[in-house]
Amino acid sequence: MKEVFVLGGGGFIGRNVVEHLIDRKDCNVTAGDIRKGSNWDEIMNKSPSRFNAVVDDFTNFRAFEKLGKRFDEVYMLAAVVGVNRTLKNPDSVISTNTKLTLNTLDWIAKNPIRRLLFSSSSENYAATSDLFGAKIPTNEDVPLCVGDVCHPRWTYAITKMHGESSFIHSAKKLGYEWRIVRYQNIIGPEMGFGHAIPHIVERFINKLEFPIKIYGHDQTRAFCYIDDAVKGTVGAMESTNHPNNIYHIGNTQEISMEVLTKFIGEHLVYKGRYETAITYPGSVSRRCPDIQKACSNFDYNPQVHWKDAVSKTVDWYKRFFESGLKPNTGGFEPPENVMTSKC
Ligand SMILES: NC(=O)c1ccc[n+]([C@@H]2O[C@H](COP(=O)([O-])OP(=O)(O)OC[C@H]3O[C@@H](n4cnc5c(N)ncnc54)[C@H](O)[C@@H]3O)[C@@H](O)[C@H]2O)c1
Repeated sequence: MKEVFVLGGGGFIGRNVVEHLIDRKDCNVTAGDIRKGSNWDEIMNKSPSRFNAVVDDFTNFRAFEKLGKRFDEVYMLAAVVGVNRTLKNPDSVISTNTKLTLNTLDWIAKNPIRRLLFSSSSENYAATSDLFGAKIPTNEDVPLCVGDVCHPRWTYAITKMHGESSFIHSAKKLGYEWRIVRYQNIIGPEMGFGHAIPHIVERFINKLEFPIKIYGHDQTRAFCYIDDAVKGTVGAMESTNHPNNIYHIGNTQEISMEVLTKFIGEHLVYKGRYETAITYPGSVSRRCPDIQKACSNFDYNPQVHWKDAVSKTVDWYKRFFESGLKPNTGGFEPPENVMTSKC
């Protein structure tokens, strides 16, 4: 049996990757995370002999020492994520994300592996179209850029570029194959609270404003359902004919924030008015990945239409907010409340 380690296996993408791998029955899976994944108990009941978990802070090397076995494949998905968290705590984004990368490499140096996949982000190329006219949909050849090093928003992208470079350039010396996946707007139930769709649902259900504001109404994004992202992630890792590659993983159905907000409003049977509003600082005007490379190298083929993806996601958050629960972190805050000052 192949041994797989998913660091960040308690998070949104990680816990879905873990479940997918366990359901396939051809590998043992260890999940590592600072918090327990919401599906871990269920997975443990289903497959006690094939699932193992370490709950600890992996910025501390001692957490890696608890793993205690050799792994064939490592999915490095752990990170501090979310625009508002990045705007408020840019120093902790830099410190946590770079420590997670460097600790993973130090651990691999002592415990050799066959393949590593690092989760990077479309943030790495997000500003290239606004600043340099890069083509949209954007493919993997685009030069990466930091919109403004003095703006806290870009600390997250800097850690993702650091991660890409670190894992690519340590591979030869440490003897593993690498894959980088740059996700773009992956959505689904329980995806966290610090994202556009949970915020929109929160504003509708909790009646936080009237009329409903459409932040950045003409900005566009392309939303990809979690099941498709999991297939893209595992497909990239297991694409043995094309080792050492970068892949853009997402969906190419580009829609505006106005279309998204009004679709959610209709889904929630909102009959009121809308008004346009200025969005979060540093937010780029268009974003859509070119996924051709993944499609041709390992038959990546996202199946879920954005309307189905958004509906399934909205239904989960509707139930959450209607039950009166409140997000622990990442709930909606208007752009004007979020720290925008530069260094
Ligand atoms: N979801 C997306 O659309 C998207 C887009 C671009 C990039 N990504 C990247 O994909 C990866 C997974 O994203 P996600 O949406 O599942 O986010 P997530 O926040 O749900 O998952 C990240 C996980 O990392 C864990 N983590 C953070 N600090 C840790 C630490 N010190 N020790 C151990 N675990 C720690 C968190 O607890 C969390 O469970 C991240 O690296 C993220 O940057 C995601």
